[in-house]
Amino acid sequence: MKNTVVTFINSKKKGQKLSMLTAYDYTMAKIIDGTEINGILVGDSLGMVTLGYDSTLAVTVEDMIHHGRAVVRGVKNTLVVVDMPFMSYHNTLAEAVDNAGRIIKQTQAHAVKVEGGREILDKVKGLIKAQIPVMGHLGLTPQSLNIMGGFKVQGKSEEAAKKIIEDAKLLEEAGVFAIVLECIPEKLADLVSKSISIPTIGIGSGGGCDGQILVYQDMLNMDEDFKPKFVKTFADAGLVIKEGIKKYTDQVRDGEFPAAEHTFTMKDEVLEKLY
Ligand code: KIV
Ligand code: NA
Repeated sequence: MKNTVVTFINSKKKGQKLSMLTAYDYTMAKIIDGTEINGILVGDSLGMVTLGYDSTLAVTVEDMIHHGRAVVRGVKNTLVVVDMPFMSYHNTLAEAVDNAGRIIKQTQAHAVKVEGGREILDKVKGLIKAQIPVMGHLGLTPQSLNIMGGFKVQGKSEEAAKKIIEDAKLLEEAGVFAIVLECIPEKLADLVSKSISIPTIGIGSGGGCDGQILVYQDMLNMDEDFKPKFVKTFADAGLVIKEGIKKYTDQVRDGEFPAAEHTFTMKDEVLEKLY
């Protein structure tokens, strides 16, 4: 089935949960697209999981375009959303529209995602006016790392929880097609999900959300040093990859690889002329 922003909204009406993962390159996008998944996010988490930064703040529009294009080339049926990076939509509306336009034009992705509520509402409206579908992102918004004082669960106080509920309604009114809820208490995520008619996509926000998203390296256990509470290991790809690489090195060292079946031949009469 072809996934679009319209099928996303309809899924919530039908009570069908949405499944999303991140991807940052062609090979992984092709693997993910070959499953029954609904959406791929080219997250600015790429700064951390593929570029090795300790936050998402250094990621550029060019980085997002570079990786976004690679992902779109691997996709047939999956909705592709590309994150707008830090400072690419925070200044003027004109800059926000220009950056989102470049991302969509150059990647051919279907939508962009921006972090925040009331603070960026004018930008969200401007992008949608320019016919660019927008996904929202509330709760733990990693681009606000230095304001939040770390990667911490958000929305625990009455004031913070009310702000998240109000922001979700504001984003819905502005026309976003879905909202990521990151690391907020389960009961608050339930309440937000019931308060709006567009789907909520949760990460670390419990089962009441209309869909879920995870960073693929996390759910495939590809970094043994990173294991947050909200991540479940669905396959130990980290171990499988390591075992495969060890086997390869062993076989290279003891001459078992490459074998005859992996090598190319040439005619003897040609070979004789070389001696
Ligand atoms: O960048 C990212 O991967 C994200 C998801 C965690 C929602 O924003
Ligand atoms: Na992100």
